[in-house]
Amino acid sequence: MKNIVILISGRGSNMEAIVRACSHEAWPARIAAVIANRPDAAGLAFAAQAGIATAVVDYLDFPERDAFDAALAEQLDHFAPDLIVLAGFMRVLTTGFVERYAGRMLNVHPSLLPSFPGLKTHQRALDAGVTLHGATVHFVTPQLDHGPIVVQAAVPVMQGDDAARLASRILACEHIIYPRAVRWFVEGRLAIEGMRVMVTPPEPQWLFTE
Ligand code: GAR
Repeated sequence: MKNIVILISGRGSNMEAIVRACSHEAWPARIAAVIANRPDAAGLAFAAQAGIATAVVDYLDFPERDAFDAALAEQLDHFAPDLIVLAGFMRVLTTGFVERYAGRMLNVHPSLLPSFPGLKTHQRALDAGVTLHGATVHFVTPQLDHGPIVVQAAVPVMQGDDAARLASRILACEHIIYPRAVRWFVEGRLAIEGMRVMVTPPEPQWLFTE
């Protein structure tokens, strides 16, 4: 049984999708804890109701990045994580923290990386005039929103789309591809080769949808 710890900052809809898939698909894993960096993270309530341990490491208590990451690592290690899942966790993590969990930390980002790392991805995609946009699940490396890509979802940009419409179509895709990537990890099926990630036996590492 692998221990998954999920980190959230807000709504936690990706966390919910992973919690549900873990249980419905009987993964060889358990959600050991959900940890938030702010006490008002809405997703904490769902996790608690699902009987999952929750914790808060309040970023306001730690003005220094290093001190926050040290406190977070202490909480995390309490749950002996085999995999750390960043699910809308809106913190830039220090290199030391990322290296401590190298190869066992995943993130979902709302763009087709390497396009549009950082914030406000949907508006930036609209402003750039791209006709395909999407989401990426990747291993976390010290460089922000840059790491070996596990799976991507692409959606067309429709006439009349604004950032909110695009975000909601892409979020629905995230709820498909993120549980898929986490399942592959806990099944021991992922191998990182440079910037590429191999799945064995193969399954589609992409999703196309309108
Ligand atoms: C998701 O769209 C996720 O891709 C994004 O935040 C949202 C969280 O939603 N993550 C980032 O922007 C990370 N840089 P959720 O809390 O409902 O899962």
